[in-house]
Amino acid sequence: MSDHKTRTDRIQRDIEELAKFSCVEGIGCTRFTYTKEWRQARDYVVAGMQAAGLKVREDPVGIIIGTLEGKDPSKPVVMTGSHLDTVKTGGRFDGIAGTISALEAARVMHDEGFVPERTIEFVALPEEEGARFGSGLFGSRAMCGKLYPDELNKYKDKDGVSFAQAMTEYGLDPSKAGETVRKPGSIKAFIELHIEQGPILENEKTDVGIVESIVGLRTFDVFVHGRSDHAGNTPLNMRADTFLATAKAICAGTEKAYEIGENTVFTCGYATVEPGAFNIVTKETHFQIDCRSKTIANVDRVMEVVKASLDRSCAENPGLSYEIREKLSMAEVPMNEEIKSLMEKEAADAGISTRRMFSGAGHDAMVMGSICDVAMIFVPSHEGRSHVPEEWTDYEDVQKGAEVLYRAVKKLASE
Ligand code: HGY
Ligand code: MN
Ligand code: MN
Repeated sequence: MSDHKTRTDRIQRDIEELAKFSCVEGIGCTRFTYTKEWRQARDYVVAGMQAAGLKVREDPVGIIIGTLEGKDPSKPVVMTGSHLDTVKTGGRFDGIAGTISALEAARVMHDEGFVPERTIEFVALPEEEGARFGSGLFGSRAMCGKLYPDELNKYKDKDGVSFAQAMTEYGLDPSKAGETVRKPGSIKAFIELHIEQGPILENEKTDVGIVESIVGLRTFDVFVHGRSDHAGNTPLNMRADTFLATAKAICAGTEKAYEIGENTVFTCGYATVEPGAFNIVTKETHFQIDCRSKTIANVDRVMEVVKASLDRSCAENPGLSYEIREKLSMAEVPMNEEIKSLMEKEAADAGISTRRMFSGAGHDAMVMGSICDVAMIFVPSHEGRSHVPEEWTDYEDVQKGAEVLYRAVKKLASE
């Protein structure tokens, strides 16, 4: 790739350095927002941005913003980047691939003395995964004015520390969170590079994915209340067994998702039961639902079936009741057509193969789509694996995506 300006060695160095702070061989990477691991990564990215000649600031919710001033600062900016946080025991590329590819693009622009027409902002975003506080897409929602009512006090981590307390301990002022909100029209476009987290690009040996649209999703906390009883002498028709009602609801939702198709998925990755003994009927079950589809209407069709199943269990088993609390809700978001075509052209010019594809994973770009044009570049995931220690993308593949990102951002910022 002779005419490529972005460099694999610098991308590899950054991703490996960041992994040192948060990743343990065989266990995976855990970098929760505002923790010691987060601060180490933040310091590394800030230093990298400064070395790339950017003006760097940390905004009121901890978004790291490296700015390359444009000739006309009045023009809406071009923004690129991704998230810095990880899921629990995840991989080293989710979020980081996009954050570091943006940083590499900034380095190339600095090395070549490029001065854009419109300002470019290179960002690293907090709490996209929601792995610490449970909400997700936090940094982009904060920029778009979409924080939930009293989210900073209501959402807490597993130790009961709220967003606001963690922000204060980290050195931020939660009362200033509103200052993160961007004025409508102030951002022209947000472009995010991300690992595919699926098998298509690798199977097809295609270098880069140009995302068509991002999935619609809703996540929920469900609390089923019942009664504990002796496992031996309590007849099956006289129980208020919460885990049984939960299992039936999960099966109903899964079957409906299969029936609908259209990339509809239904996942319950977390559940707790009380009292939690093999020979006691369960009296409390808390489980979480993550339901996604090409359209949010499909998600609602699945959730209707889940609620019907829980209602049936409650009708058949006196003493059973339940509550469903929605946590995250994002409608499907189409990517900007002009930027998709621009990225395809830039990739072709650079000898990089592309294919259009759908994103079943949620991303900050889906939130930014509410205030500006958005586009995403995918790079291959080995065996499609992600959110696991085995997550892998060859550094040369990240570089190819970074080259397309660099060329597209440079073009957009030159207009
Ligand atoms: O869950 C997701 O889709 C993303 O990885 N946050
Ligand atoms: Mn993720
Ligand atoms: Mn991600």
